[in-house]
Amino acid sequence: MYRIALLPGDGIGPEVVNAAVKVLKIAGEKFNTEFEFKTALIGGSSYDKFKTPLTDETLDVCYSSDVVFLGAVGGPDWENLEHHLKPEAALLKLRKALGLFANLRPARVYNSMLENSSLKADVLKGTDVLILRELTGGIYFGEPRGYDDEKGFNTMIYTKEEVERIARKAFEFARQRNKRVASVDKANVLEVSQFWRKVVVEVRKDYPDVQLNHMYVDNAAMQIVRDPKQFDVILTSNLFGDILSDIAAMITGSLGMLPSASLGTKYALYEPVHGSAPDIAGKGIANPIAAISSAAMMLKYSFQMDKASEIIENSIENVLSKGYRTKDIFKEGDKLVTTEEMTNLIIEEF
Ligand code: NAI
Ligand code: MG
Repeated sequence: MYRIALLPGDGIGPEVVNAAVKVLKIAGEKFNTEFEFKTALIGGSSYDKFKTPLTDETLDVCYSSDVVFLGAVGGPDWENLEHHLKPEAALLKLRKALGLFANLRPARVYNSMLENSSLKADVLKGTDVLILRELTGGIYFGEPRGYDDEKGFNTMIYTKEEVERIARKAFEFARQRNKRVASVDKANVLEVSQFWRKVVVEVRKDYPDVQLNHMYVDNAAMQIVRDPKQFDVILTSNLFGDILSDIAAMITGSLGMLPSASLGTKYALYEPVHGSAPDIAGKGIANPIAAISSAAMMLKYSFQMDKASEIIENSIENVLSKGYRTKDIFKEGDKLVTTEEMTNLIIEEF
């Protein structure tokens, strides 16, 4: 039995979380695995009730679960709150509290979605990249930081322990995939990158079966667009990963289809990449694929249910290949479906 904390959040968050839960329940039945769901508030919906975007009760629900499944937070109603009361502040706090240091963003291209990308189909076909971004260190957290009238500054620091644990994850994931890691840095300019490289090379000694190469971040940005198929796992720091994962995301097409995971030593959190999409909330038209695909990642990476995960991914591919599309990915000639219809179609493919 696995315990899953559900944090639906705001906007379309609850709509896509519902869709993922429906899929998980069916997958659980099919594979004789029981899931226990506990729902808690986060973000604006928590602020409205408790005047804080993240309560201790919600944190406790997360601590007492095996994994956390999050929808999305935020929206115009809470935009003008003080920084620490904003829905988005809850996400940072939660990641920190759960020690989630590794952010996973797969960029996989569904064959039937090739025409949705800005890249040529033959460049894209077969792309399956996993970007592993360090999430709790680097320049976003380094001290000292600040600015005055004359200057602004931040500090990029990585400790050996921080680089080691993310590098280890990268090599381990590469082992489950195509056994190639590209470590991305800026070692021609930054000492912190030279250090990063040194530690990664050291960790690699435990994974002699995995191929490692190093790439400067500017070149990596270019290569992702020029020839994304060359990559298997990309390992990188917080800042570079923030940018590269968005580039990789866009070559695959739509925001509504991108899953993610954030992993720590003890906890894991799965969530769609997209936000709360206030412009379409409550209309029942949100694309549930990002959330459903995040659930598939959860089965694979947290519960070792590889087969179930694969079935969900293949079901998504099949439904897309039959021409069913939610509004965000709809083109002339497609069959337009709602969130609920898309979810049911995916389940029917199991
Ligand atoms: P967004 O991702 O919510 O929406 C951007 C555009 O993509 C919108 O036009 C939206 O309708 C569309 N879209 C997003 N997901 C979709 C889906 N599943 N199906 C169909 N269309 C979809 O980003 P935006 O508009 O910048 O932010 C809205 C709110 O969400 C803000 O308050 C922002 O801070 C928050 N946000 C929260 C995130 C999270 O909870 N992890 C991540 C990004 C933004
Ligand atoms: Mg970003």
